[in-house]
Amino acid sequence: MSSTLDFEITLTDQPTPAAERERVLADPGWGVHFTDHMITIRYAEGKGWYDACLEPYGPIAMDPASQVLHYSQELFEGLKAYKQADGSIVTFRPYANAARMNRSARRMAMPEIPEQLFVDALELLVRTDRDWIPGKEGQSLYLRPFMFATTRALGVNRPANEFLFVVIASPSGLYYPRGIKPVSVWLSRDYVRAAPGGTGEAKTGGNYAASFAGQAQAVEHGCDQVVWLDAIEHRWVEEVGSMNLVFVYGSGAGARLLTPALNGALLAGITRDSMLKLAPDLGIPVEEGKISIEEWQAGCESGEITEVFGCGTAAIISPVGHVKGSDREWNIGTGEPGPISMKLREELIGIQYGTKPDPYGWVHPIH
Ligand code: PLP
Ligand code: COI
Repeated sequence: MSSTLDFEITLTDQPTPAAERERVLADPGWGVHFTDHMITIRYAEGKGWYDACLEPYGPIAMDPASQVLHYSQELFEGLKAYKQADGSIVTFRPYANAARMNRSARRMAMPEIPEQLFVDALELLVRTDRDWIPGKEGQSLYLRPFMFATTRALGVNRPANEFLFVVIASPSGLYYPRGIKPVSVWLSRDYVRAAPGGTGEAKTGGNYAASFAGQAQAVEHGCDQVVWLDAIEHRWVEEVGSMNLVFVYGSGAGARLLTPALNGALLAGITRDSMLKLAPDLGIPVEEGKISIEEWQAGCESGEITEVFGCGTAAIISPVGHVKGSDREWNIGTGEPGPISMKLREELIGIQYGTKPDPYGWVHPIH
């Protein structure tokens, strides 16, 4: 393994018994079980990255004055390791996650991590805990790299200068237990997720903390997910929950896609980017643009918009079947997942699980 750092390896002396692990893997849920090990790497200004470790999964001792606990200087990423049809283990576009973490780091005044060190850390953890990768369709080992400020200081005149990078891994099934049944969404006018010049395009924990009230409001209105609108006019559609949105116009050979353009407030999803590349190969043109809630409603009512889906690593593709707001409500399509959404989903899953060709070299084998 070529790495920018050598990892010190300490294996757990209390591994999860195989029978217990198999019980977890039979029905892992999402993000609630964790493997036996984790990665930690420290950073200090002037010294760079140091103390790279693979160690037993467990609590992290923190000074109560650590900056992250007060000012949320934090970043995270999310990607999956898959067991492919032939038994090989792969991740999907890990260098894209590394690059995004570094873009987030620049926005949050945090240190960038060498992309190869990021990928080496993932590989080492997956290799060590490979028995934790569930093998059934739709299952995977969700990898959660994250980084936070450990500097002990309450002042806010300068960003922290010490950080901890960690990777944990969680055997996971479907993100939404109801599978790919279309979800209902609530148009949030009271809360915004992100504003121009803010942190929407950074994958930082504060964005998600700020979204919980909007998500709770969606649930109060009987909806599964919240749709985030732009911060200024509250009418331009940006994201759904923690996913990017894709609109399907027309059907069959005439279908085309529109997804909101990256405007600084949206997170640049790797699933979104993959869709933008795969769809044209399947004969489906794509456009990055703008769509208002009025255009969304009118398009569904005229039949021009036939399908809408959210896309992200966790849920892959999540069709939207019903939209509700304080002054409007409408349905999309038939209430079943649409054919274009399903075709794109199958194509992407096929690449990830090794049952379809990988034309862009996205699949990253772990030996
Ligand atoms: N949008 C937000 C706000 C997200 O948090 C995520 C995923 O974490 C996405 C979109 C989808 O990104 P990706 O496809 O890289 O998982
Ligand atoms: C995604 O992977 O699409 C997510 O949105 C992850 C989420 C739990 C933050």
